[in-house]
Amino acid sequence: MSTTTSEPGSKLTAGATLQEQARRHLWMHFTRMGEYSDEHEIPIIVKGEGCYVYDEHGRRYLDGLASLFCSQLGHGRADLVQAGADQAKELGYFSSWSYTHPRAIELATRVAALTPGDLNRVFFTNSGSEAVEAALKLARQYHRVMGRPHKHKVIAREIAYHGTTFGALTATGVTDYRTPFEPLLAGVSHVPNTNMYRFPADHDPLELAEAVATRIEFEGPDTVAAVIMEPVQNAGGCLLPPPGYFDRIREICDEYDVLLISDEVICSWGRLGAYFGSEAIGYHPDIITTAKGITSAYAPMGAMIASDRVAEPFMQGTNSFLHGSTWGGHPVVAAIALANLDAFENERVLDHVAANQGAFLAMLESLGDLPIVGDVRGMGYFYAIELVKDKETKESFNHEESESLLRGYLSGEMFRRGLICRSDDRGDPVIQLSPPLIAGQEQFDEIEAVLRPVLEEAGRRMRLG
Ligand SMILES: Cc1ncc(COP(=O)(O)O)c(C=O)c1O
Repeated sequence: MSTTTSEPGSKLTAGATLQEQARRHLWMHFTRMGEYSDEHEIPIIVKGEGCYVYDEHGRRYLDGLASLFCSQLGHGRADLVQAGADQAKELGYFSSWSYTHPRAIELATRVAALTPGDLNRVFFTNSGSEAVEAALKLARQYHRVMGRPHKHKVIAREIAYHGTTFGALTATGVTDYRTPFEPLLAGVSHVPNTNMYRFPADHDPLELAEAVATRIEFEGPDTVAAVIMEPVQNAGGCLLPPPGYFDRIREICDEYDVLLISDEVICSWGRLGAYFGSEAIGYHPDIITTAKGITSAYAPMGAMIASDRVAEPFMQGTNSFLHGSTWGGHPVVAAIALANLDAFENERVLDHVAANQGAFLAMLESLGDLPIVGDVRGMGYFYAIELVKDKETKESFNHEESESLLRGYLSGEMFRRGLICRSDDRGDPVIQLSPPLIAGQEQFDEIEAVLRPVLEEAGRRMRLG
């Protein structure tokens, strides 16, 4: 007999369902485990095909968030799996510590060929958090090697998410994620993000860039190592930079000898329409962090890509970057990433995004007639719909309203109707859509067919217009 008890010490016996096993033994990430019950099942996804996934009951869902912004090519790609299997037969693993292997070399070369400018040195990690961690550590060690040992501080932006390891979490500007783990690392501070929907119309948007200079002055220019920002900030809902913002950030970084880290864990590999988000927006960082779409999610991988200028001191004499991990640059994963990039080229994935992003945005903007839709923003295949109580005043929902709107209705209802996307209130409440890059008009129509009635009903429930 199986049991769903979660009493300490109890273990499930043979015959327990997957639901029971998950509820008793699995610890899901960022998940309120206590909310699941016989009536409220854990969604168990068992299969994927193109833009769609299937749950254990055989129900089909449109993967409107590309499995957390990762699944660029969609699900069920036998060629990527085969590339990993072939590599595993040839060389299953060898480490990146003092040795290397052909796939890591080939992938580093391939990635460097796609990066803009002199971002030519690739350090592989296993996740986005680890890529950010590596970038923060490199920034510190770089300044030390260059004879500026006091430059160790980092400036990030409010509500930005940069990951969960301690360094990345310290850069993260989401109070609720930080508080349980404080004290965090010393020396990281946050400046306002670029939420242009809520930026006062009578102010110059470039004040948001000047805030970085002001913060550097405040901290003391001799103590600041790096600024970390996403090209389009995810948390808060696809926050686009105003025109000229990154040009000014670049100037400020140069003026104060501060490294500009572009966190492109989401915004690379076609998500914004170019291989790298900084390229799509048009600025030149010193370091790029990436992950997710580098393998289209067929295996975990991240990378930190440094400019020649930043990497150069580490290529001399006895110097080395004192950082690494067992799995970084794993050959099976690197082979999968290479197959992913082959597919990007052969199937002209970026051209597909360029040809379809306008239709995607137009569909989302067509929802702007609904009383609850305050703003639609984003680019490429990366969009957010900000939900408001009052379109005229832009008044947002308070915490309780947002909780009942997002968790009490929207997330569950969209899922019930076959759409997986994100409803998020790390900033003001938003719905985010970021499907696989192979999605087209058929999927946009399906998204609209779910969103329109669900948002209409959400408006009625919140007693709007
Ligand atoms: C911008 C950004 N940086 C870092 C991370 C952390 O990546 P990971 O979850 O792979 O550790 C994320 C994750 O979503 C992210 O969006």
